[in-house]
Amino acid sequence: MISCWVLKKPNWYSPILPTTLRSRVTYQGSDGKSIATVEGLDSGGTLSAVQQAFIDSGAFQCGFCTPGFVLMTKQLLDEHPDPTDDQIGHYLSGNLCRCGTYPEIIAAVKLAARKRRNT
Ligand code: FES
Repeated sequence: MISCWVLKKPNWYSPILPTTLRSRVTYQGSDGKSIATVEGLDSGGTLSAVQQAFIDSGAFQCGFCTPGFVLMTKQLLDEHPDPTDDQIGHYLSGNLCRCGTYPEIIAAVKLAARKRRNT
């Protein structure tokens, strides 16, 4: 996956990522803020629970929207390990999937939540 989305904590996300950073990035700045791309979510080659849940749920077709949905799902589950449907809708509302895989994306979020709670 090529990411054009980053999580910038504690200030949520930015859809803009300079070309030079379009790679596996997890960055911790001296100001205490961190940046992560979807490529930086795995651990030593093992996909994160969120990444694996998107694959297991078939939650993408072309994959154009996937980095944004994966990163916002990570943020959602970091803040709400057992999210309500309203919380899922709120966190993912800034993303659009032109392929229409919303039911699978919601299933992936719920699967990832279960996986993270059970580990
Ligand atoms: S999978 Fe194609 S835009 Fe979402």
